[in-house]
Amino acid sequence: MGIMYNEFNKVFHLQAGNTSYVMQVYRDGYLAHLYWGRKIKNINSEELIILKGRTSFSANPDLNDKVFSLDILPQEYPAYGNTDFRTPAYQLQLKNGSTITDLRYESHRIFKGKKVLEGLPATYVENDNEAETLEIELVDSLIGLKVILSYTVFENFNAIARSVRFINYGQENLKLLRALSMSVDFIRDDFDFMHLFGSWARERHIVREALKPGVHQIDSRRGASSHEHNPFIALLSSDCNEEHGEVYGFNLVYSGNFLAQAEINMYKTTRISIGINPFDFSWLLEPGQAFQTPEVVMVYSYEGLGGMSRTYHKLYRTRLCRGEFRDKTRPVLVNNWEATYFKFNAEKIENIAKTAKELGIELFVLDDGWFGKRDNDNCSLGDWVPDKNKLPNGLKDLAKRINDLDMQFGLWFEPEMVSPDSDLYRKHPDWCLHVPNRSRSTARSQLVLDLSREDVCNYIIKSVSDILRTVPISYVKWDMNRNMTEIGSALLPPERQRETAHRYMLGLYKVMEIITSAFPNVLFEGCAGGGGRFDAGILYYMPQIWTSDDTDAVERLKIQYGTSVVYPASTMGAHVSAVPNHQVHRNTSLKMRGDVAMSGNFGYELDLTKFTEEEKEEVKKQVVRYKELRELIQFGDMYRLLSPFEGNETAWMYVSEDKTEAFVAYFRILAEPDAPVRRLTLRGLNPDKTYIVEGKKGVYGGDELMNIGIALPDLQGDYKSAIWKIKAE
Ligand code: DGJ
Repeated sequence: MGIMYNEFNKVFHLQAGNTSYVMQVYRDGYLAHLYWGRKIKNINSEELIILKGRTSFSANPDLNDKVFSLDILPQEYPAYGNTDFRTPAYQLQLKNGSTITDLRYESHRIFKGKKVLEGLPATYVENDNEAETLEIELVDSLIGLKVILSYTVFENFNAIARSVRFINYGQENLKLLRALSMSVDFIRDDFDFMHLFGSWARERHIVREALKPGVHQIDSRRGASSHEHNPFIALLSSDCNEEHGEVYGFNLVYSGNFLAQAEINMYKTTRISIGINPFDFSWLLEPGQAFQTPEVVMVYSYEGLGGMSRTYHKLYRTRLCRGEFRDKTRPVLVNNWEATYFKFNAEKIENIAKTAKELGIELFVLDDGWFGKRDNDNCSLGDWVPDKNKLPNGLKDLAKRINDLDMQFGLWFEPEMVSPDSDLYRKHPDWCLHVPNRSRSTARSQLVLDLSREDVCNYIIKSVSDILRTVPISYVKWDMNRNMTEIGSALLPPERQRETAHRYMLGLYKVMEIITSAFPNVLFEGCAGGGGRFDAGILYYMPQIWTSDDTDAVERLKIQYGTSVVYPASTMGAHVSAVPNHQVHRNTSLKMRGDVAMSGNFGYELDLTKFTEEEKEEVKKQVVRYKELRELIQFGDMYRLLSPFEGNETAWMYVSEDKTEAFVAYFRILAEPDAPVRRLTLRGLNPDKTYIVEGKKGVYGGDELMNIGIALPDLQGDYKSAIWKIKAE
């Protein structure tokens, strides 16, 4: 690992894990991108940049050079307006109304370790030897604009973390109109574009298509990273599959509006960029002020998508997630949402908890409906006072009773919202996002609190903390159930209204930072109508997220498989729910529901008291099994074997770091008449070790399991699954 700078040809050579990333200060201070890929020992080439004269339709910034144009230079952080016609990484408006800027290299520094991004989530190091950082300072001296491009390379990961800081050191106001976190130009155009697409209950389905000339973009204008598009894209070589081929991944560590795009231009180059969505965004930089972009984590893999995912998984598990639970196995829980919805009382809850205890479950989570007059979703958000009708002896009493069963107690909140029918709203009608004289559109009968305001943030911190301080709570589910409309803040001046959505995120991160650090013993789980804000930003504060409101075992195959492209199993909440399933009304076996949910942070979300004795016995076994496997699943290396996006079968496996243990799960959706016999070839084992496969006779070489594979059982009927534990001899 390391960052090298060659004074002679002004080349920066960054080495992250087994990769190299190369840039050059070119000509009069332009920062050019040269290479990103497999590690190269030394950069000796004299021809790092190939220029080619174009027609007059590519203009020349140097009046004496008819060949040079920024339009043909691969760049690191391009502007628009002075000869590059492609999409820029940033844009500013000056006091005179113009938007032309000209950034040139000024200086750089290289240091060990990685700085904290103040107020924003980001990857981190625990020891300065784990990473090295390069900061390149670009300056437009005419207007007093300084831009610091930051690149951190990790010793043990093929990953680079980039972010950008804008500083106005001039005399006049500058208005940022666009401030993406990165841009890279490739002098090739033969990529596939991959992203994770979906909707509520259908999150993160994999979409892959060949890039075509023009701009291909995904984004969010919803005020959250969203169910629709995850802030992740990848460029893949067309031959790239799970194990082979090249892939470049880009994941924004941010939970708000984002833009990610790839552009193939007329010279068949590909420009890729990601950052805060410039749509409806601007940021006023007064003299002396600075703006920090979120971080983007860029991963290169030549071992296919699987290689990329495992890099993200390990980096996020160990150097994005924080706190006590980062390295701790997560408890098996039962959540009452799908069991009771709003219809419960203390007795019902206690009965479910008692049954849960008998079944070996460790944590009871009380979901929505415990506060205010919340018998439905029309009211009470913001009034975080226990409902005396449902809980006559209070929340503390209920929590204690559950603790007395030797179970932990968890609680649901939706702190960022307010119901118009609430004491909070009646007292502070200006505390929600709104625009004067316009209607305040509701969704699920609720409005979004204006977290760009300090008083609102303080209210949330106090109301949540008061409960966490007085009730013995070990887990919090932090929900968020609508996207933003009429985005405006009562406290911001007109010229800063378009800052509201980003200021909201900064407020949210501050609130999350304060609450999660004040209660380090509480396990926090993020949620947004399921997986509507499943992103690396939230994972910095909360090590796990409710993956989807869709708990159907078949639907979950795609959701969990797609989520695993970037995010590790330890971040995914996965529960067994009742049949017919409440989202898609499908009947699947308890076995398959259990096997699917076991591939994440396992739990149940149904009325356990309604189980037959036989079902209870099965559940007991599932819980025992998960406890025995959870370390491997939550912290092992994941290998995807069969994709639910490509057929009737899905399979994945988790392998311990020392390759002595593995867990394999296989799912078949529909039965096939006169089905062929098949084997399942495994991955990630040690070819030189011998293994015992649970339920199978004899011992198998790792090479045998990875090449010949294991025989799949003859499963009868629809919605079937099989799991195996594998142990080295
Ligand atoms: C949406 C969440 O995703 C569900 O799990 C549940 O907590 C409901 N909200 C409660 O309103």
